[in-house]
Amino acid sequence: MKDYSRNFLFYPPLALASGTWGLGENLFKYYSPAEVKETFGVLVTKGISLKPRIGNLPPRIWETPCGLINSIGLANPGVKEFKKIFLTGLLKTEVKIFVNLYGEEIEDFVALAEEFKGTGVSGLELNISCPNVKKGGIAFASQPEVVKELVKEVRKVWEGSLWVKLSPVGPVLDVAKACESSGADAIVCANTYPGLVVIEGEKVLKGGVSGPAIKPLTLRLVYELSREVSIPIVGCGGIASAKDVLDYFVCGAKAVEIGTAFLIDPELAKKIAKELKEKWDM
Ligand SMILES: Cc1cc2nc3c(=O)[nH]c(=O)nc-3n(C[C@H](O)[C@H](O)[C@H](O)COP(=O)(O)O)c2cc1C
Repeated sequence: MKDYSRNFLFYPPLALASGTWGLGENLFKYYSPAEVKETFGVLVTKGISLKPRIGNLPPRIWETPCGLINSIGLANPGVKEFKKIFLTGLLKTEVKIFVNLYGEEIEDFVALAEEFKGTGVSGLELNISCPNVKKGGIAFASQPEVVKELVKEVRKVWEGSLWVKLSPVGPVLDVAKACESSGADAIVCANTYPGLVVIEGEKVLKGGVSGPAIKPLTLRLVYELSREVSIPIVGCGGIASAKDVLDYFVCGAKAVEIGTAFLIDPELAKKIAKELKEKWDM
């Protein structure tokens, strides 16, 4: 087989996006260890915070035309529990593990980065783009100067790969440039779009919209950003087929993440990776 590893940020060029596959259990139910390795170059964990979070009250996920809206609120066991219970199993996969980090303040991100030094984790993905929390999250993504400071401070303590997951709304280009100038290795474009559904004619659920509905929107962002920044872009939004992956590459992405499609059909990524290999030799 040809060696494509240098064409992409990682190889195989598919990653599993944060929050859409639990912390391992939902992946290992459907994939053997060999299948995990053949399909994904990176697994990005659910957003991990310093303290455990129970997240928002239900309903917190709802179907929308061609997608989903979610308001999970970053439910997670907290960094100590994550390291103790989940990380060892994930590291056994022989696939690069990236931990998605969530903090309310810059100091939280720095403390979290310190926690993963020497653990075998390959990289960190800073989540500055969650629309479903009161503090931190998307609030960072509206302030390029704060993002610059955040990346600079995390870079001081973290030598592994450092990605920043952008919000698709706000001053996206300025934030991307702030990431580039302060030492990020790549940007992930992008998180969910703020949206709202009315459930059963009365209950309002505000959250982040994902899935095929957002693909043309995020694809355009990737296209525009790839002309303005020179660090690699990981495309993420609405990917549900090999053609979707190729579209992201055409628009300048150096790898992609698959999210909602995994929730809808956990085995789809296997088929996508196989098609990319068999039809496109990648
Ligand atoms: C249920 C759910 C939970 C998510 N949790 C996180 C999270 O913890 N951290 C994060 O950065 N993104 C999170 N995301 C966003 C996804 O990783 C991805 O960026 C987004 O859904 C767009 O990709 P998609 O259209 O392929 O799903 C979540 C998405 C969903 C649907």
